[in-house]
Amino acid sequence: MYEASSINESGKMKFFSNPSYRIVCIPGEGIGPEVVEAALKVLQQVAKLEGFTLQVDYGWLGNTALEQFGSYFPQATIELCDGSDGILFGAVTQGGLLELRKHYDFFCNLRPIRIVDSLLHKSSLRPEKVKGLDILVIRELVSGIYFGPSGRFEDEQGAYGYHTMLYYDEEIRRIARQALRKAQQRRGRLTVAHKENALPHLPWTRIVQAEAINFPGVIVEPMLVDNLAMQMVLNPQRFDVILASNLFGDILSDIGGALVGSLGLLGSASLNADGFGLYEPIHGTAPDIAGLGIANPLGTLGACVLMLQQWGEAGAAQRILVAQDKVLAKGYRTADLSPQGSEILVNTEEIIDLLLAEICSEKYSESGVLYESYK
Ligand code: IPM
Ligand code: MG
Repeated sequence: MYEASSINESGKMKFFSNPSYRIVCIPGEGIGPEVVEAALKVLQQVAKLEGFTLQVDYGWLGNTALEQFGSYFPQATIELCDGSDGILFGAVTQGGLLELRKHYDFFCNLRPIRIVDSLLHKSSLRPEKVKGLDILVIRELVSGIYFGPSGRFEDEQGAYGYHTMLYYDEEIRRIARQALRKAQQRRGRLTVAHKENALPHLPWTRIVQAEAINFPGVIVEPMLVDNLAMQMVLNPQRFDVILASNLFGDILSDIGGALVGSLGLLGSASLNADGFGLYEPIHGTAPDIAGLGIANPLGTLGACVLMLQQWGEAGAAQRILVAQDKVLAKGYRTADLSPQGSEILVNTEEIIDLLLAEICSEKYSESGVLYESYK
């Protein structure tokens, strides 16, 4: 197990040469290939503008991997990912994803839930309830009930199954340190999801509080996860960083999708102790709209933003965020955002073209500060 106290940011030395990154794209299935291809176009564009190069290799996971290699998470994919600067992943219906997360020990899953001003009225809540919403869900990703002892058997009472929520204290400690560090860099409040009234042998509160001694200024607020889910839909603006175990974080982060208007908007980063990461949208394969070219690529693009930030390519990340805000402010909406009134329905390709046009018209000052774009 890693002992690093914080995850490295693997920025390359920009000032001496043009950095070059190699990523592995794993499009997967369903809408995965559509959103990954779309996001890549934007990534390549900002790379050009920011003066770095991006080499893209393609890997396999899930059903496509099974067909080709006889395994959901084949060795060929591992060989590509080893030594790369990041993995950009779309979606799979089953198989491979949990193995991939575990293989690289991507324990620290960051799921930012931020409202875009022009989408306030798309939230499941009234606009005044979500204005300024900016929550970071930090989900433990390689342990807990997803990976504990499990099985399906039969005895004299009939067939039964079980999954076990098992955490080593050290697994809680290392994710706690990441969450405390993030809270310290943000607004200093860390809400810890737990269920100690029913699951007392998983003392998240005590373990996180013990680590918090090394993070002055951070207020640790333990909250029973059922109450936390309710507070997220009653009063989400009160939250800053939310730390949760694997299963609780999975559930709570989907509430985030409803709060910001669509799960299709959210991206995530899953990092290991070396700062190596897997970047993926939070949504799944969406088989009902797969192949129609109407999927929202902004979740995958959000994941790309996190990848760029992790590399220290803040300028490139900023270009994408600014362009996205402008395109949305102009009223363009993919189908998942149910355009109404004067809003304009666009498909995947159209929203990417709009983003590319905004990115190309953005103007930077010599100091690197973004000016208003040309009209
Ligand atoms: C997510 C997804 C996955 C998870 C599924 C596809 C296994 O829901 O990333 O949130 O539960 O981790
Ligand atoms: Mg989920």
